[in-house]
Amino acid sequence: MKTQIVSVDNLSAKEQSYTQAVDLLEAGETVAFPTETVYGLGAVATNEVAVRKIFEAKGRPQDNPLIVHIGEKNDLDSFTMNIPELAKECMDAFWPGALTLILPLKPNTLAVNVTAGLNTVGVRMPEHPVALELLRRLKRPVAAPSANRSGKPSPTQAVHVLHDLDGKIPLIVDGGATGIGLESTVLDVSTDIPTILRPGGVTREMLEKVIGPVNETKLTDQVEAPRAPGMKYAHYAPDAPVYLIEAYIEEVQKAVKSIHNDNKKVALIASDSYSECPADYFFTLGKENQLEDAAHLLYEALRKCDESDADLVLVPAFPKQGVGNAIMNRLEKAAKGNWFNLD
Ligand code: TXA
Ligand code: MG
Repeated sequence: MKTQIVSVDNLSAKEQSYTQAVDLLEAGETVAFPTETVYGLGAVATNEVAVRKIFEAKGRPQDNPLIVHIGEKNDLDSFTMNIPELAKECMDAFWPGALTLILPLKPNTLAVNVTAGLNTVGVRMPEHPVALELLRRLKRPVAAPSANRSGKPSPTQAVHVLHDLDGKIPLIVDGGATGIGLESTVLDVSTDIPTILRPGGVTREMLEKVIGPVNETKLTDQVEAPRAPGMKYAHYAPDAPVYLIEAYIEEVQKAVKSIHNDNKKVALIASDSYSECPADYFFTLGKENQLEDAAHLLYEALRKCDESDADLVLVPAFPKQGVGNAIMNRLEKAAKGNWFNLD
């Protein structure tokens, strides 16, 4: 299969690109498109054969359910039921936006492989103009995981999608670099106190201002009893092993020295304040203490490691506050929980 990239940045290209994307989706094909978090790989969520193509293109395990994307709140009526009050408050406050809500699934509506047989479904209304336009033209719910090969960092640019899925999908709609750069927050609203299953752009602090106390699953809970089924799989990992390290220049310098003593090459992913460290490769996460910038640049930086010949990757830790929480969640997975040990 030949993979085509189309743009939406001028009026004539735009019309043709949306028509092509809608036609392919209607015909049961997959299409990659930008959202404000990361690029998604979409298929019509009621079409089991089309949804299967997503799993095949990504190499994704079948027991990991997909997020369903909608263009209008009314679209929910066709496939969810008994929506809790709290969920409605979240929709009013955060949709369109980077918040996925786990809602009760109306039986026999969506293709079973979308929800991996669960009786709940993750739903969000994306805020990206291209995603919204596509969904509103199509007028159908679209199942869309991140458009990367399973295990790799999510794509934040159309070229990342092409790198991972070239020849496996027919179309990529290029809408430029995504804004937030990390996947949406996944919130389970079925319990008395809602639980964040995956931290993301909508932070715990933002949620608590609207709906009161919110719990968060710890990474260890996720390994033992994953409530977001995707959490048990390795994620976001470059080929070289990743190590977290305390965020002190002296620590990082010592680590780089000891790696060089072992005749190995190291890539450093960090804010610009670390740029003078003598690592073999430096991939920036922007200015110091700018968590939004770091989120925006993180996956690109992890992907760049695969283009280098670094033997290992070091990343100074971030404070687990606000978006830092989501950044550390992804980094702990990329590092499989490993911290660099100087002794
Ligand atoms: O920002 C995003 O959410 C992106 C863009 C494309 O919208 N999508 C995305 O999808 O990250 P994906 O499939 O890569 O991640 C979906 C996450 C997984 O961790 C999955 O286990 C969880 O949501 N999930 C989906 N449905 C669920 C359900 N019914 N119950 C619990 N967790 C669910
Ligand atoms: Mg993903």
